[in-house]
Amino acid sequence: MGSMTTHQKIAPMGDKPRRLPRYTSYPTALEFSDLSPSLYQDWLRDLPDDQPISLYFHIPFCEKLCWFCGCFTKISNSMEPVQRYLDVLRAEISLIGGVTGRKRISHIHFGGGSPTIISAEQFTDLMALVGENFDILPDAEIAVEIDPRTCSEDKVKAYAASGVNRVSLGIQDFNPAVQEAINRVQSDQLIADNLRWFKQAGITNINFDLIYGMPRQTLETIEETVGKTNDFRPSRIALFGYAHVPWIKKHQQMMDKHHLPEQAERQAMFELASTKLQEFGYQAIGLDHFALPGDSLLVAREEGRMKRNFQGYSADPATTMIGFGASAIGSLPGGYAQNSPDLKAYSESLADGEIPVRRGLMVDAQDLMMRDVISTLMSNFAVDPWAIARAHKVDYDFEREGADLESLVAVGYMSKDGTSYRITEAGQPYLRAIATLFDQYFPQGTDIIDRCVHESEG
Ligand SMILES: C[S@@+](CC[C@H](N)C(=O)[O-])C[C@H]1O[C@@H](n2cnc3c(N)ncnc32)[C@H](O)[C@@H]1O
Ligand code: SF4
Repeated sequence: MGSMTTHQKIAPMGDKPRRLPRYTSYPTALEFSDLSPSLYQDWLRDLPDDQPISLYFHIPFCEKLCWFCGCFTKISNSMEPVQRYLDVLRAEISLIGGVTGRKRISHIHFGGGSPTIISAEQFTDLMALVGENFDILPDAEIAVEIDPRTCSEDKVKAYAASGVNRVSLGIQDFNPAVQEAINRVQSDQLIADNLRWFKQAGITNINFDLIYGMPRQTLETIEETVGKTNDFRPSRIALFGYAHVPWIKKHQQMMDKHHLPEQAERQAMFELASTKLQEFGYQAIGLDHFALPGDSLLVAREEGRMKRNFQGYSADPATTMIGFGASAIGSLPGGYAQNSPDLKAYSESLADGEIPVRRGLMVDAQDLMMRDVISTLMSNFAVDPWAIARAHKVDYDFEREGADLESLVAVGYMSKDGTSYRITEAGQPYLRAIATLFDQYFPQGTDIIDRCVHESEG
């Protein structure tokens, strides 16, 4: 979900929706402003050689529009624009590889849109070019987001041959009436076929994306979807709350004729799904993930290595991610950089031999420290902010933040052990609201308890 907005649906405040960050970045993308390609080029050139890095490739095309979709994508019925885009993407890979030199790569992620729209041959050629420009480590994690409807056996064979070892399938919901309401019809048999192809190709790290809070979903359909998910037994599950942002994604209005579950119903759906998944042996991770014992994300969480990044939660140790493709965001030690989301502008920059970065944000030592505080809280539900500031050698007293933490302890949303604060079960629905207390860019005008009660979602 590389290009989903970092600020998803939030409960209304007054008439205006107020969006709570999901903190897949800190500072969040809302703070981005113009960024010069030459500054980004300096950041790329200064990347240290001793640490492996991650690469993200955005493929902004799909065959059919799902009406709930909040991703950055375009519908294409022909392969011509896709091939044109891939030519530009290839130019970007060569250009950036020329600036960074042959860096070691620990993680590659293909997101979209639907990376499965590109053919087996196109994928193989793209990965070959990546290998010519970068040193892909033998144990690198290479992940692809899969739309089961545009996947095929020969594509899966090409993925495996290129080293892909993790896939994430967009399932969303198994109920036919819900599928029809969201314009995302895919049969159980299709999912079974996909899983057979992955198994035969030796790709065993499988994630299912599910969504709750969509039209026609009820507690019964949620139970059905979670039950079928368990029958397929993926090693990991992401359970997203539907982000309804029709003022940005106009096509979401296509679902207006249906009742959209209210906040209390959404919360009940999440709790039911979460309880059922845990009964089936999945362990809850962070805000919205579940995994079977042995899954690398669970292991990373247990070892305190899990963190928050643009893919949600991640076990990837790299501190640098370079984003390729229209709208892709990279995270470097110097700051965040986002490519132009406009396909034409993105292509024209590369045709002129220029880096297509448009927006971003330079970060300082305090931002990096606070990112660590927020990522730790979002990952572990617990944080000792003073210890993190000391580890970053940043002098920051957390005076206001400390007072907010004490208010949360007083109402039972957090517990305290020395200078370490942990979110209690009662406080867990408010994780995102609680994280805002550390966000130096978030308007801190409202009382933190009010913010939890009025602005959180399940
Ligand atoms: C890029 S898509 C995954 C690959 C492929 N395009 C597909 O849909 O199968 C990323 C995921 O974002 C999630 N998503 C998309 N729009 C969303 C929304 N409005 N609210 C919550 N999750 C959403 C879906 O679960 C989807 O699987
Ligand atoms: S296939 Fe995925 S990216 Fe494409 S429209 Fe559907 S949810 Fe969005």
